[in-house]
Amino acid sequence: MDLQLPFDVNPFDRLADLVRGVPVPDGVTPLRMCLGEPQLPPPELIATTLQANERAWNRYPPTSGELAYRQACVRWLNRRYRLPSDYLDPDRHILSLSGTKEGLFLIAQVAVGPERRSPARVVLIPSPYYLVYDGAARMAGAETVYLRTSEASGHLPDLDGIDASILRRTALAYLCSPSNPQGAVASLEYLEKYIQLARTFDFILVVDECYSEIYDEAPPPGALEACVRLGEGLRNVLIFNSLSKRSNAGGLRCGFVAGDERIIEAFRRLRSFSGGQVPIPIQLAGAALWDDDEHVEINRRHYRCNFEIAAAVLGDAFELRRPAASFFLWLNVGDGEAAALKLWRKAGIRVLPGAYLTPSTPDDPDPAASHIRVALVHDPATVEMGLRALRRLL
Ligand SMILES: Cc1ncc(COP(=O)(O)O)c(C=O)c1O
Repeated sequence: MDLQLPFDVNPFDRLADLVRGVPVPDGVTPLRMCLGEPQLPPPELIATTLQANERAWNRYPPTSGELAYRQACVRWLNRRYRLPSDYLDPDRHILSLSGTKEGLFLIAQVAVGPERRSPARVVLIPSPYYLVYDGAARMAGAETVYLRTSEASGHLPDLDGIDASILRRTALAYLCSPSNPQGAVASLEYLEKYIQLARTFDFILVVDECYSEIYDEAPPPGALEACVRLGEGLRNVLIFNSLSKRSNAGGLRCGFVAGDERIIEAFRRLRSFSGGQVPIPIQLAGAALWDDDEHVEINRRHYRCNFEIAAAVLGDAFELRRPAASFFLWLNVGDGEAAALKLWRKAGIRVLPGAYLTPSTPDDPDPAASHIRVALVHDPATVEMGLRALRRLL
């Protein structure tokens, strides 16, 4: 039986392959700066709410999610993006998700899955990307079009550079803002422009906003705000968010998608087969977290402190630029894969080579291949130790 899948391996599998069999120096405890997993403790609200709702473990969760959860998502979105109070209807515009990952993957089935008989089969993907966009599009049998990003394009796809012949065949576009790995933030004008493209060419624009709360100075604008400014409701737009980064709760698997009610309904029907529902006690804990903003400010202070450390240790080496949001450094080290291997061998530090976040094009490698992504998620002393080693070795 040939179980070879029609796409390249996951970046973290590639990283594991890269360092497999390569020992770290004696006495060194490995440090994983490759993974965007918050290391701060999750808020106590989770434990207390779970305990208070123990009785609900016997119930199957509805596919759309508990109404109380969807209402909390709407309250948060209204507060965060200053939306008109009647703009979002928790029944028509929101679905709970088991984290954004499953939703970002499955939405490609709605847009270009085998049952969708539309001739538009292109999925637009920023490069470098979050691994799921690429895997989702390819597993759905889509034609992938990668939009390279660079310092010159503000680390976001250049919307003027997309050919109309491609846009006419586009079914779905992924945008990540704040972006992983660069931490770039799309302006309201940029979001409006992408939404207008989606409406003109009638494709689904998915905006992955899961780093929206990990910002440095100003809260990043969101696509729902752009929809309000443009009018025409939420037509062609979906946003995805979760508690994983905002509330140090990756293990809770609790997120949501909000947007165009036509797409939400199609998505609900698809998910009623795939069954990734979030257990009800977890949704109620999630609701309590969306209603609380205080713990999120503490998290932001933590990441700001880590970025101060990065600036002090690295200065402007590796073209370091303090990102507007997210908790990653995106460093130009010349050859990202060689640097990752060296950091592992000499200091037991794992970072992610930029090449693993781009399509494989040996004849025309993405410039991201010269970068590494470093997650500043640990406590300040650990971050400082890791960055000092990185500075010394690269
Ligand atoms: C850009 C981006 N989107 C989505 C996710 C998925 O997060 P979750 O499923 O925990 O919401 C991640 C996780 O690292 C991410 O970096």
